[in-house]
Amino acid sequence: MIHQIAVIGAGTMGSGIALACASSGFPVILFDSFPGALEKGKAAIEKNIQYLVNKGKISQVTANGYLVNIRFCDEIIACKADLIIEAIIEKPEAKIRVFQQLAQINGENCILASNTSSLSINDIQKEIPNPERFAGLHFFNPAHIMKLVEVVSGKFSDSDTIAQLVTFCKGLGKVPVVCKDSPGFIVNRVARNYYLEAMRIMLATQAAPEVVDNALENAGFKMGPFRLMDLIGMDINYAVSQSLYDALGKPERLKPSPIQQQLVSDGKLGRKTGIGFYNYSTQSPA
Ligand SMILES: NC(=O)c1ccc[n+]([C@@H]2O[C@H](COP(=O)([O-])OP(=O)(O)OC[C@H]3O[C@@H](n4cnc5c(N)ncnc54)[C@H](O)[C@@H]3O)[C@@H](O)[C@H]2O)c1
Repeated sequence: MIHQIAVIGAGTMGSGIALACASSGFPVILFDSFPGALEKGKAAIEKNIQYLVNKGKISQVTANGYLVNIRFCDEIIACKADLIIEAIIEKPEAKIRVFQQLAQINGENCILASNTSSLSINDIQKEIPNPERFAGLHFFNPAHIMKLVEVVSGKFSDSDTIAQLVTFCKGLGKVPVVCKDSPGFIVNRVARNYYLEAMRIMLATQAAPEVVDNALENAGFKMGPFRLMDLIGMDINYAVSQSLYDALGKPERLKPSPIQQQLVSDGKLGRKTGIGFYNYSTQSPA
């Protein structure tokens, strides 16, 4: 039975997942090992809660209750929980290292889950103790709002682990979709073309991001590809592009764009750095 949650990584996704859990009444430990990351994560959570209060969606008393449920923590040894959701950098070696540490700290009943967008659950699972208690749990950004969670079953994940994760997601008011491990799972596999084609159009026609975004948003897409890439974070989106390209045998249609690569080397990661395809200090094209 899942009660205590720990979330590893207090960035864009970790802070959103922590808020999703806390707002559904789960006690959460939010861990990050990088200086300043916990403060940044806490500020993001407070801003998102305040937005809900200002919109009249929740009362200030309810908002205070959400925050009380989150314990901010910089010592991995304190990360003892029934379910641990990892949301750190999209690098397999870093994720495996963290899971190996967490497995030593926690008992064999603890479920370990990765929020990876594109890395192989089977490959991570092979490297950690109790692989049957490991699965993918892929939230979407912003995690406290988006309903979908992909519950990714690896080769060794057992049915009890998957069933518990499905029940947990429903407890968060989410819509869990179970899928087998495969590059990009469901949504990222389909959506890859949305981003890559938009950047090809930009290169071929010099179209400005807002022209493409406005066209697609007025055609019914909820968010244009450039605004969406800025929300996701260029580093994460580029890593996902690269990982899918490699995993699917380098097809030309999935080749990462030089535009993403350039933005990552320039540190223009989107909303989280204040500039990407758009400039968030002036709310205008970058
Ligand atoms: N950004 C998105 O839209 C999105 C959506 C779904 C899934 N994801 C996945 O979620 C994960 C995190 O993405 P993000 O956008 O939140 O990244 P981010 O860069 O915003 O945050 C990552 C956080 O992890 C911390 N971190 C890095 N290495 C760590 C370690 N070894 N131990 C503890 N903390 C560590 C960093 O300090 C940072 O706070 C990635 O696997 C990504 O693929 C991202």
